Amino acid sequence: MDVRRICKILLLFSFLCGEGETQANECVAYRVDGEAIACVCNATYCDYPSDDVPKEGSSYWYATDKQGQRMKQLEQKFGSCGGSPPDETLTVDSNKKYQTIIGFGGAFTDSAGINLGKLSPATRDQLIRAYYDRKKGSGYTLGRIPIGATDCSTRPYTYDDFANDTSLEHFALAKEDYDYKIPYLKKALELNSETLFLGAAWTAPLWMKISGNLNGLSFLREDYYQTYADYLIKFLDEYKRNGVNVWAISTGNEPLSSLIFNYPSTTMAWTPRSMADWIANYMGPTLASSSHKETVILALDDSRPLLPWFVEPTFWNENATKYVAGIGVHWYLDFITPADLLDETHDEFPNKFIILSESSTSPPIWGTPKIKTESWRHGEKYILSIIEFCF
Ligand SMILES: *[C@@H]1O[C@H](CO)[C@@H](O)[C@H](O)[C@H]1NC(C)=O
Ligand SMILES: *[C@@H]1O[C@H](CO)[C@@H](O)[C@H](O)[C@H]1NC(C)=O
Ligand SMILES: *[C@@H]1O[C@H](CO)[C@@H](O)[C@H](O)[C@H]1NC(C)=O
Repeated sequence: MDVRRICKILLLFSFLCGEGETQANECVAYRVDGEAIACVCNATYCDYPSDDVPKEGSSYWYATDKQGQRMKQLEQKFGSCGGSPPDETLTVDSNKKYQTIIGFGGAFTDSAGINLGKLSPATRDQLIRAYYDRKKGSGYTLGRIPIGATDCSTRPYTYDDFANDTSLEHFALAKEDYDYKIPYLKKALELNSETLFLGAAWTAPLWMKISGNLNGLSFLREDYYQTYADYLIKFLDEYKRNGVNVWAISTGNEPLSSLIFNYPSTTMAWTPRSMADWIANYMGPTLASSSHKETVILALDDSRPLLPWFVEPTFWNENATKYVAGIGVHWYLDFITPADLLDETHDEFPNKFIILSESSTSPPIWGTPKIKTESWRHGEKYILSIIEFCF
């Protein structure tokens, strides 16, 4: 809110100084087959919507279309339809509240960082601004940070790839953290210091796992339940030391993927019960007695068919539930599971928030066509998912 006020003051100031700052920057359309599927930004120019507040008695609506409009602000006056008295009455009951929206965000993965690194510094700043700036961007307030490598990294790595290093003396962040993640996380923080970051590990170091493998079925060894909790605290320590506080840490990316036979992707499995046990007796108490007491735990971090049964043992366990603030949900199996499962989960555990922690449209293993000619359709998928998630 303060940022918004500062922006307003700056805007006013620039008007007074006659610097001619416009209220909005129009989209420079990028067309494929005559359809404007994206807007082009470069080092000196990027589109952004106007952020002024409608006058009393009127409202704004924003239009985005294939002809090239992007968040185009259009004004609508109440009760002004051709002078005749309106026959519809819109009643806003501000006492009736539904869910709170924590925010919107993106992920600071290696692959995002590699692509950002290919741009000139000015264009890169423009791109991050387009997401995280409250006025000249989408006002993102969330960011997900992979703890170690994801399945889209160029190599597998964790922060302790030294076999049997039970004291974690070799723990160290990777080159990827310094080159691809931290610099951009800090850019987002510069634009909005209240940005909340969610950390998620795809796997523990392989020597902590029963299978010792990166892919496929692999559980954490029970004798390393504490070591793994300590490992995650060290990640929080190191990120804090580098200027990035992590708001939430998940129990791990997609525990179910690991149960899929030969799943060819960095994974680590939990059962509903082992997840509850690890939180109650290891991760929860370790986090609570660390210097990261403010950091919350996010359970599940996997697709909708697992709700609510996968989190029930955690939330029914008095010693686990007190450490867990919410549930992370992925969108990949939404087509086989109704959104009602979110309501069901919320009704059963009303004090736990639900956050859509991962969605992406173009995993190459599914042979999706290249992003260039498909962008509009990808955008529609995100929009429909957000609408479904919110209602
Ligand atoms: C940047 O984009 C703007 C708007 O399309 C254009 O006028 C300007 O020439 C571009 N600058 C460069 C260096 O391409
Ligand atoms: C790690 O410990 C296991 C026994 O727990 C042993 O079999 C293995 O050789 C050790 N690996 C290394 C690299 O020391
Ligand atoms: C929770 O912890 C307390 C104290 O250690 C213990 O007595 C109780 O049995 C635990 N509850 C569960 C469900 O494990």
